[in-house]
Amino acid sequence: MFNTDKFGKITLEVELTTFCNLFCPGCKRYRYENNTLHKNNNVIYNQYLDPNIFKHNLFEGPNSLLWKQIEFIGTYGDPLGHKGILDICEAMVSSRNKRIKFFFHTNGTLGNETVWKELAKFCNIENRYITFSVDDLGEDNGKYRIGQTWELIERNMNTFISNGGWAEWKMVIFKHNKHKVPLIKEYSKKIGCKKFRSVLDYNESDRAINFLERPITLATPLSDNFVTLPKPTPDHNIKCLSLAGSAIYLTVNGDILPCCMWNASRSESHETGAGKEIYNWLGKDWNNASKHDIKTILDNNRYQKDFFDMLENKPLRECYSSCDKTVGSADTLEAVHDFDSDIIPEHSTQSSDYDTTSQTR
Ligand SMILES: C[S@@+](CC[C@H](N)C(=O)[O-])C[C@H]1O[C@@H](n2cnc3c(N)ncnc32)[C@H](O)[C@@H]1O
Ligand code: SF4
Ligand code: SF4
Repeated sequence: MFNTDKFGKITLEVELTTFCNLFCPGCKRYRYENNTLHKNNNVIYNQYLDPNIFKHNLFEGPNSLLWKQIEFIGTYGDPLGHKGILDICEAMVSSRNKRIKFFFHTNGTLGNETVWKELAKFCNIENRYITFSVDDLGEDNGKYRIGQTWELIERNMNTFISNGGWAEWKMVIFKHNKHKVPLIKEYSKKIGCKKFRSVLDYNESDRAINFLERPITLATPLSDNFVTLPKPTPDHNIKCLSLAGSAIYLTVNGDILPCCMWNASRSESHETGAGKEIYNWLGKDWNNASKHDIKTILDNNRYQKDFFDMLENKPLRECYSSCDKTVGSADTLEAVHDFDSDIIPEHSTQSSDYDTTSQTR
């Protein structure tokens, strides 16, 4: 898949945990049905990535030189929910890769003051930072970020920024907050954020925001969350975002996958259809970073050869649905705002320049 002899080329996205304290109705952790928020039956909650994978594999000796950037975003949980976050930062910065870039996304409510003070020491430059996913101010932020405590967000942001941390504010835009972009941008600038970015809601959450009764009692779903994806047509034309961005994905249980879409698909349809295809294609164990050296995994024929063959000749349904040039819908629509201008920029997809700036997610 990648040339593992080249220095600092690979971007690694990491799922640190499947723990989160909030109930955002558009999140893949949950399913919104019949005006009720349900568990996602196919997600195992409260799993934590083994930090030894960082210490003794990914950032051990020359392995550390593989990486350009580590992105702690999360599909089913919040990175600040992992108690080993500081150890993981230490493993990265004390490695031989002195140019390593990394960032964490968070809802801002987790972590105590000590953690935020220490994180500020690690995440204190443009290429090492924290993205705060906060969509509104005060109690209004709880319209989507259900269960939030605004005072904790304020405390954590202030602790982080006043101790030298580099903070980005990321706002998801819904019907209820879209007129507040200038106000929230101004607020983010006032408290010392270095960047303000907005993305459009990817999950049509307005209905859930309006109708859900709070506080939330999570319901058990009646059925598994099977998503039926279309079968690739013979004239498919797939542009793999993972290849374009030299990016791979580390799941919470240590598996190395090509991308976050494969991780999401595994939880949406793992018994049948697209998820099952992924399980079958992967086979067992060879790609687990708790058990195998990362270079051995990346140099395995499955990624070095079979992967290209699959994309070209027999694409999986997930690849066709996410990354085919005519069908694909993998990217979100986003805009980076200028603190010195009142103009609200257009939201657009970043996939075309994914290879040069994959830190846009
Ligand atoms: C699933 S979250 C996990 C990380 C963390 N808990 C958080 O919310 O930032 C990953 C990213 O998805 C974004 N996100 C959550 N709900 C969204 C939505 N409905 N539309 C677009 N992005 C969303 C978050 O803001 C975050 O940047
Ligand atoms: S804070 Fe992040 S992980 Fe938690 S429910 Fe919301 S979007 Fe999902
Ligand atoms: S879904 Fe398939 S084609 Fe798209 S980035 Fe992932 S591996 Fe590549």
